[in-house]
Amino acid sequence: MSAPARSLALPPIEPARFDATLLVEARLTWADRVRTEWRSVQVLTRWLTELTATVEPLPFLADAVHALDDEIHHVALCSALCEALGGRPERPAPTAADDATSARLAPSERPLATAIVMLVVNETLSVAYLQDLAARCEEPAVRFVLDALLADELGHRDLGADFVRHALPRRPAAERAEWRTFARRAVEHHRHKIDALLAGVPPERRALEHFPDPARAALGMTTWVRQALVFEETLELTLRPRLEALDLA
Ligand SMILES: [Fe+2]
Ligand SMILES: [Fe+2]
Repeated sequence: MSAPARSLALPPIEPARFDATLLVEARLTWADRVRTEWRSVQVLTRWLTELTATVEPLPFLADAVHALDDEIHHVALCSALCEALGGRPERPAPTAADDATSARLAPSERPLATAIVMLVVNETLSVAYLQDLAARCEEPAVRFVLDALLADELGHRDLGADFVRHALPRRPAAERAEWRTFARRAVEHHRHKIDALLAGVPPERRALEHFPDPARAALGMTTWVRQALVFEETLELTLRPRLEALDLA
């Protein structure tokens, strides 16, 4: 896992320079990222408990602790940028400790299930969305946060793949089809939303070059259509091959 940047000293940013409407959107976007990073803290805390319960090898526990520490730092980073833009970071509503999907599974299945959904599938998508934003953002404070998030999420994605390579072969071979179905459902969870978003976009317009939106990119934002197009590209070029390589597709 790469060494994460730990500094909260963001380069200066002047919110007044930005279009007022986009600035409001940016405050809400970064406030929402504070909530999703909090969600990652909750999920990785649960994963750590699951790994401990099934007595997984110590290096996975150490990496999970490291990843949890990353997510706590992400809450702080996104909060700092939200405040620098004049927004107000908010914590999410408290949730039950148990995730519904995980709670339905036997304790011995939970570490693998969480690794597939939260690390392999979700972090592969997070990395792709962050790469798409970072590559187009030149505003120093925003780029600083995007780069720091990206460096860590790449490590989380790869930790998920490492854990699947460890845990999946240890499951009974007769379960393999069920795990593939489980992974497919994790992808479909995103796919439904993407299909709805792209339904109104004619096929000839379905290319990233038609949705450059540099003003949003400067503030670390994108449009739903662009995000849907990044999803499609990531599914074909990265996520599906990755799931196949892990014997999950
Ligand atoms: Fe994160
Ligand atoms: Fe993460």
